[in-house]
Amino acid sequence: MRVFVILPAAGLGTRMAVGHHASSAPKQFLELAGVPILIHSLRVFAQVPQVAAMYVSVRDNERERVESQVAEHGFSGKVSIVTGGDTRQESVANALNALPCADDDIVLVHDAVRPLIDPATITRTIEAVEKHSAAIVGLPAVDTIKQVERTADGAIITATIPREYIVQAQTPQGFCCGLLKRAFAEATADGFVGTDEASIVERAGVLVAVVPGSPTNLKITQPGDLDLAEFYLNHLTASHR
Ligand code: C5P
Repeated sequence: MRVFVILPAAGLGTRMAVGHHASSAPKQFLELAGVPILIHSLRVFAQVPQVAAMYVSVRDNERERVESQVAEHGFSGKVSIVTGGDTRQESVANALNALPCADDDIVLVHDAVRPLIDPATITRTIEAVEKHSAAIVGLPAVDTIKQVERTADGAIITATIPREYIVQAQTPQGFCCGLLKRAFAEATADGFVGTDEASIVERAGVLVAVVPGSPTNLKITQPGDLDLAEFYLNHLTASHR
């Protein structure tokens, strides 16, 4: 059993384009402690012994930039670059099509913009996939969760969902390769577009296990997240993450 990693990094990062971190670079290429966010993510997965190869989906106009970052940080030969798509699902599908994986190999999909993932959580996800065929990292909800209806006057609460039933989906999300390929093919045939891989596998009728996540595994999305990530990076030891 080998483990392949897909890092979708073809987003435009439009929510990042305000405030003092405004930049022409999409967020996955911004620097955290002097190193591009994508490289931080690659470094953590490279520390996990089972990982055989990593695939990064990028926009064609970013390919050169990513290839030079990958080479500069010593990942040439360990990382393949594929063309991303207009949705995250398409970006992952393109990488999945390029994977030389056997049905019982494992694929981990990880947001390139979650650079603070730690090797222990990755290992726990791999173990959960070995046991259940499908597993994601999820963060238990601490806030009370409300379901709302959007109206012209703003949101109105329609239900309170007991928080013990809620986890926030993070990444990595891991699956047996054959299973993920079949679920993607079904989703494509049905025109279903999900915001994560688990939703694609769930609709194929497969049970997906949850591995506990951490608030430090944040998705760098909006201005301020980069400062928070830098704070975590400087103040947390690996054992706290
Ligand atoms: O858009 P969101 O912030 O949820 O992005 C999560 C990850 O998916 C990011 O790493 C982003 O670069 C990637 N993505 C992608 N292709 C897209 C949209 C998002 O690879 N079309």
